[in-house]
Amino acid sequence: MYINTALNYTGSKFKLLEQIVPEFDYQKNNFFDLFTGGGSVFTNVLDKFENITINDIITDLVEIHKGLYNNTNIVDDMKMLCVDKTDKDGYNKLRDLYNLNNSPAMLWALLLCCTNNMLRFNNKFKFNQTFGQRSFNDNTEKKINILLEHYKKYPNKVEFISKSFNDILIRDNTFYYIDPPYSFIKNEDGTIGKKQISEAGYNCYWKQEDDIKLYEYLKMIDKIGSSFMVSGVLSHDGKTCWMLDKLIQDGYRYKVLEYDYNKVSRKGDKETTEIIIMNYVEKH
Ligand SMILES: C[S@@+](CC[C@H](N)C(=O)[O-])C[C@H]1O[C@@H](n2cnc3c(N)ncnc32)[C@H](O)[C@@H]1O
Repeated sequence: MYINTALNYTGSKFKLLEQIVPEFDYQKNNFFDLFTGGGSVFTNVLDKFENITINDIITDLVEIHKGLYNNTNIVDDMKMLCVDKTDKDGYNKLRDLYNLNNSPAMLWALLLCCTNNMLRFNNKFKFNQTFGQRSFNDNTEKKINILLEHYKKYPNKVEFISKSFNDILIRDNTFYYIDPPYSFIKNEDGTIGKKQISEAGYNCYWKQEDDIKLYEYLKMIDKIGSSFMVSGVLSHDGKTCWMLDKLIQDGYRYKVLEYDYNKVSRKGDKETTEIIIMNYVEKH
């Protein structure tokens, strides 16, 4: 049984955990969740590694995880800030306030109340997602209580970082789980294209050069003897992802993830194939 986090994060890997987590590299002592997002992955391997490090470029998001893990007053603060699911004006005021004077509790309240629970920022990194006519509810309360009980069992194990991945030194004896924003498509001549393979709010942080840097980062992890698993959309609506395709061409092992016992998922009427790629041998 996997534990869901209380962020309702769009792009969460929660539903795929049963296919991903058993494939991890447990030969390593340290686990690094480089793009932690809603945190569902690190939360479910706290008992499996000696040390856990999580990172995300959105600092307030990392601070929410830190607040929950260390059981601070972040939950009460967030509850006080959530607006009623009919209160559009209240939501807009909260959003303005966040953009003037941000805090982790405010971001969590916005995340729970916004459209599709999707964090969306403009080019100036101002939060700009619209009101989703939703709010904190009993279901979220239940998830929070389960999560807090779970974290209590594994104190002092998690290190929290908020940087762009390429500013983080690569460590040895470490297994990296890597779930980046949607990557760029491959052109017919094999070069990297100008468009990302699909849409997500956190895509605004991701540029073509990040895909190239991430590819080089993965090669470096491999070179120093650490290990990685990358997850992502290999193909969508007939288009192919440049970076994942390049890793496959390099000979890394990969598996297709299944959705409802189907090898492909559908976004609208468009077929999507999501995979994991690993640089370590399959366990027997
Ligand atoms: C696909 S989501 C991760 C979802 C996560 N695995 C989960 O289960 O919730 C990708 C994350 O990468 C973060 N991100 C975007 N650019 C980044 C960068 N340059 N360095 C680190 N994190 C970044 C985004 O904020 C987003 O939370």
